[in-house]
Formats: sequence, structure tokens, C-alpha cells
Amino acid sequence: MRLACYNGLMALPQLTVAPSAAKRVRHHDCWVFKDELTSPTHSLRNGELVELADRHGAFLAYALYSAHSHIAARVVSTEQRRPWDRTLLAERLTTAIARRATLLGTNAKRLVFSEADGLPGLIVDQYADYLVVQSRTAGMETWKDAIVDLLRRLAHPKGILERSDKEFREAEGLPSLTQVLDGTVPERIRIEEDGLQFWVDPYHGQKTGFYLDQRQTRQWVRQRVRSGERVVDVCAYTGAFGIGAASRGAQVVCVEQDEGCLTLAKENAQLNQVEERMGFVAGDAFYWLKAKAESAERFDWVLLDPPSLAKSKADTLKGRQALHHLLVHALGLLAAGGTLALSVCTYHLLGLTEEILRIAAAERGVRLRILAVTMQANDHPWILQMPMTRYLMSWMAQRDG
Ligand SMILES: C[S@@+](CC[C@H](N)C(=O)[O-])C[C@H]1O[C@@H](n2cnc3c(N)ncnc32)[C@H](O)[C@@H]1O
Repeated sequence: MRLACYNGLMALPQLTVAPSAAKRVRHHDCWVFKDELTSPTHSLRNGELVELADRHGAFLAYALYSAHSHIAARVVSTEQRRPWDRTLLAERLTTAIARRATLLGTNAKRLVFSEADGLPGLIVDQYADYLVVQSRTAGMETWKDAIVDLLRRLAHPKGILERSDKEFREAEGLPSLTQVLDGTVPERIRIEEDGLQFWVDPYHGQKTGFYLDQRQTRQWVRQRVRSGERVVDVCAYTGAFGIGAASRGAQVVCVEQDEGCLTLAKENAQLNQVEERMGFVAGDAFYWLKAKAESAERFDWVLLDPPSLAKSKADTLKGRQALHHLLVHALGLLAAGGTLALSVCTYHLLGLTEEILRIAAAERGVRLRILAVTMQANDHPWILQMPMTRYLMSWMAQRDG
């Protein structure tokens, strides 16, 4: 393996990449796959900083190497004179935090969103005075101490919790970890969003505790729900959509299969003094929707936010069938003039959703007017050259009255 000069002080391993990857890196994609590396990698350490070069030896980028993942290298700098080091890391963190400074009306936001902030593999979420970090790659893992030190100086949190306990860690050859990295972090944190209060469980909650990425879609719905309307929040998690609707005077039912989430949803309803207008059903959305659609009850709003329905491309057909099933029954529940707010976080289904919705609408014999299409909140920006960084979309579909 060749060694490239780095910072004038030490040598970096230089990896040659296939022409297809070289072209993508030049066009601002930051992933290089294992089968696109044409140099031997056996002497490299998991997470090590490397230099990528094209087949003629020309510099392409600095990248962090992953020994176990099919994504073998993630670009951290494409400027030869700006190698990856603590200074660049500090600059990226500072910029990422500054980008969110204009996000008002909430004290819970994503401060760092991985590739979109030039920090592939790093997630930092702020919940009031606390931070929750996730290190998703071997590369970011090697920089964790520096990240914690910098976050302490830049954001002054009372505590930093690590929630690196997801399946992607296994793919990187990393252990699952939930641990306090700095200060103290309570079992529950109270946050504010759009004038509402929510309890977040940072240790056990899904994602890092709250679906921050749905903030704008929740706001869209909340602004349009009217007093007295009937709303069902399907796959409700801790009730954020439903509580927003109830705060406008709607009558809301939350359906969620995880009873722990529903307990928190009830407490959140009390926190916002809307519990009298809310009902909670612990159950499977697939069965509940089907049974309700067969009954006479109808809703003015069906808010449907299922989990990922296809983890990989190979699961696309299964995911498509599951979404079709949910939609046929969700549309069956919709009153004339009512609105379905459908969210899809399954990357492999995003391009197929309108077709799936059209087929489900045909089966129900209803005409749908798309009022808006919303996306992941803007503290989760996506990179145009990396389409998979856009992972969440919502369709607001109104049934003809
Ligand atoms: C994407 S999250 C919903 C987030 C929520 N809308 C919010 O804004 O906080 C999906 C939720 O669906 C729940 N879920 C997964 N499968 C389900 C099923 N078959 N029936 C009911 N709920 C389910 C999960 O426990 C999770 O809370």
C-alpha cells in the first residue's frame, strides 16, 4: 500500500478507488463501497483516516475507513490542503450548530445530521439542556472523545448521553452502547415544540427519544385541524401528532402497539391538558385499521406514520404490500372531505408511494386531492447528490367531499 504525505508530519495510507467511485466523489457523493476499492486494505485499522486517489494516483479526498461495512470509506474532506483533524472537526460542529440557530419555537432539534453536515456517521440531538449523540461508524467512533470535548465547549450542555445502540453499529463491527459521556442526564427530559410540552425518554426512546424529523409535518397538520374534528393518530409513538390536534379542540384517538410509548403519550396529554379529548388504544395498526374500516365510524383526519416497512431493497415488495394494506383501510376510515396525512420513512418506498396510494384509492373508489407534500424537518437537510439522505416524506391527501 502506498503512503501519502499528511500535514507534513505523518504518512496516510492511500487507497485507489474504481473510476465509478472517483467520479461520484468528485461530484460530492461521500460514500465509497468495498468493491470499489482497488488497493489492499488488510493492514488498515477500522476507522482509520485514509487518502483516496483515482487510478492515476491523483488526490480525491480524505476519508474514514470502515473495515466491516459495505460502505468502506466515507469522505470527510475533498480539499487536499484541509485534511481531517481536530480543527476541521471543530469547524464542522460549529457550522452545524450555527445552521440551527434560526430554528425557533423549539428547544429540541437535530444539531448534527451526519453526511449533511460533513460529519458522516455522527448524529447530535439537543433536548433542552441535554445532548444525545450517536456514533454510527468506526470512523466517528475514533473521534468520540474529541467530539464530546468540543460539544461541551460549543453547546454547554448539562449532560451528554450516547445512544449508539442500533443495528448499524453491528455492521461497523462496533458494540452497542448506551452511556453518559459527560455530566448527568435525567431519565426524562421535558421539551417544548410549537408551544406544546413533551416528555422524552433519552435512554430508551425510539431514535434518540423523539421524532424530531416530523416537526414541520406535525405543525402543518396542527395548523389545519379544527375544533370538534375527529382525528386518529395511527402509530402514535408518544402522541406528538395527536396532542397537537387535541390542542386545537379535536377529538383524538392514538393507536400504538408499544404500551410503554402509550404510557408516555398519556402523560404528554396530561402535560398539555388535553387528556379529556384523547383516547388511547394499545394494538396493532394493521388489525385496528381493518376492523375500524368495517365499522361505521369515520374520521376527519387519519394521521398514518408507520415505521420503516422495508429495511433493504430486497424487502421492497413486502413493504409495498404492507403499505397498500394500511392505505386501503386508512382510506376506508376517512370521512368525505377528510384528510389522510401519510408519512413514509421507508427509503425504498418513497418513489413508489404515489402509485401505491393511487391503487389503494381506486380500490376504495375515492378521489384524492394532494394538498401538500412535506419532508423531514429542515434540521435534517439532505444532500442532492446522495438521494438516500432524503428518507422521510409525507403526503396530505384530501378525500373529495
Ligand atoms: C415513525 S414512529 C411514529 C412517530 C410519531 N408519529 C411521532 O411523530 O412521534 C412509528 C411508530 O409506530 C409504532 N408501530 C410499529 N408497528 C406498529 C403496528 N403494527 N401497530 C401500531 N403501531 C406500530 C412504533 O412503535 C412507533 O412508535
